[in-house]
Formats: sequence, structure tokens, C-alpha cells
Amino acid sequence: MRARIERIQKEALEEIAAAENVSTLNEIRTRVFGRSGSFVLLNRLLKEVPKDERPYLGRLLGDLRRVISTSLEKRESFFEKERDRALIGDLDLTLPGTALEYGAAHPITCLLDRTIAICRRMGFSCTMGPDIETEWHCFDALNTPNDHPARDEKNTFYLQDGRLLRTHTSTIQIRTMEHQFPPIRMFSSGAAYRRDEIDATHLIQFHQLEGLYISKDVGLADLKGTIVFFFRELFGWETEIRFRPHFFPFTVPSYEIDVRATMLGNRWLELAGCGMIDSAVFEAVSTKRRDQAYSPEVVSGFAFGIGLERLTMALNGITDIRTLTENNIQFLSQFH
Ligand code: PHE
Repeated sequence: MRARIERIQKEALEEIAAAENVSTLNEIRTRVFGRSGSFVLLNRLLKEVPKDERPYLGRLLGDLRRVISTSLEKRESFFEKERDRALIGDLDLTLPGTALEYGAAHPITCLLDRTIAICRRMGFSCTMGPDIETEWHCFDALNTPNDHPARDEKNTFYLQDGRLLRTHTSTIQIRTMEHQFPPIRMFSSGAAYRRDEIDATHLIQFHQLEGLYISKDVGLADLKGTIVFFFRELFGWETEIRFRPHFFPFTVPSYEIDVRATMLGNRWLELAGCGMIDSAVFEAVSTKRRDQAYSPEVVSGFAFGIGLERLTMALNGITDIRTLTENNIQFLSQFH
């Protein structure tokens, strides 16, 4: 028995030393410690040896297990280290690393976050709409006649299937009314697209914040109060706001909003458009919905749209709109 134990130990140790990979080690482990392995066999034999030899042989068996296990583990970790070394190659882990450059929120995002917070405080909830739109949502439902210049291919990006890239976020007014019952108090923001010549003040993609308020008996005073509060929250209580009569096909009366604030260099800036929803819009929506929830007899409302690029530029003293899209980290990191 003793000779047998010693032989098994010697053989196993030699095999472990000669093993060239982990799977050979696993085979050896099974052969010795597996269910019909030699260790189990010897344990069984131990019961048959004379009683007085048992403690001694038992200890030998214990040693066998410890010695072989340790040797297997050592060889295994040797293989592991070899593998790591092969992976690392001649990489020098003591060299200093390349520092990560941290980005920052884009100045338009920063402004948008502030405007969203104000809208929420006024009880407006956030809605989204797709960038690719139907002509109906972008123009027809917004009472835009067929020969309106905005509908021209020279001004708007059309897809082959007749859809288009929305030219303003007012499309979301229509989408919201299609799917929700009044009263509505929503804002939405996103990109709009126009086929402009790119220069220091124009891009083909820009961003707008759109607001829509529909209820019973909404009047011009509600519109003005909301807009004045919004801009004063944004630029301070001294901010002056001017409503200049204008024309949009989907609102009447319509206004352009000029704002003057210290923060904006104390000059008048045209920042937004707004107006009372035209009854033609309510009628288009009612026809689509096939109900009278938005009958102009019942509801009234206002909408506003604010361009975010111009505002961002005025706030930060940016003179070329193109810098907003160049993703230059040195430029962007000024706006932390
Ligand atoms: N959609 C208009 C534009 O892009 C702005 C606007 C929005 C005007 C809502 C009135 C009401 O110029």
C-alpha cells in the first residue's frame, strides 16, 4: 500500500511537471481525484489494511492529496501568468497613461435644460415628435397654402417618398392635438431643417423650443403673460419684451418676439414667433380626429416657437453659428 501511494504521487508529480497546458492538468486531476480515480481507490483499500497501520497510511494519503493539489495549482497559475504575459507582450505598464479629455454639455443643451425647467414650472409637459414628417403635419394641417415658399424644394428637404425633414417644430402642435384631448399644456424641442446656404448665421439644421397651450377661453393676455414670464425667468426680471405683429399661416394674430436684456448685450434680439391658434388648424385637426374635441367653437389656444441657436450665440458671445456643430473640444470646454 505504501509503495503504491508513493508511486502514484511520484508519477502524478512527474506528469504535472511535464504538462504543457491546463487541459492536461485537468486530465491528471480527474485521474487522481475523480470518482474512479486512484485517490478514491486507495481510500477504499485503506479500510482493508490492518488496524494498526491505518493511521500511518491515512496520513500518507492525506499528504498525497495535499502535495498533488498544491502542485496542480502551482502549475495552473504558472500557465495563467504565461498567458497574461503573452497578452501584454512588451507593453510597459509603468509608462504614464494618456489623460482623458473631459467633454461638457453643449451650450445649446445647457440653454435647453434651463428653458425646459421654466416650462415645467409653468405646468407644461414634455412631448416629442419625429424629425421626418408628412407634408400634412408640417404644412397642410398648419394652414400653409400649396404655393407657400416654405413648401418649395429649394427651401425644404424632401424624401423620395414625399415625406420631408420638418422645417419647424410646430408639427408637434398637430401631433399632440391628434392624440390628446384638451386641455393641452405642452412643450417640445428638437431639430428643424431648412435648405439654407450655410454661413456665419445659417445652418441647414437648427433647434427650436415649441410651446402649445389649449383650453377654454384662452386669450392674448395668457399668451403675453406666459411669454413675458418665460423670458424674465430666463434673463432676469428687468428683461424687456416686445410683441411685433407678424404673419404665420397657423396663428392669428401672430407676433415676433423681440427681447432686450443685459445678459444679451442690451440690444433688441428677435428670438421667437407666437400667436393665437388659427381656427383653420383646429378644423384640420377635427377632420383628422373625426370628433369635435378641438372645435374652434369650444377651444382656443396659443403657440410659440423659440430658436435656440441665435439665443445660445447671444448668451455666450458666439459670432459664428458653425462653431456650434464643429465639435471642437477646446471651443466647447469654454462653456462649463
Ligand atoms: N414655427 C414658426 C417658425 O418656425 C414659429 C412659430 C411657432 C410661430 C409657434 C407661431 C407659433 O418660424
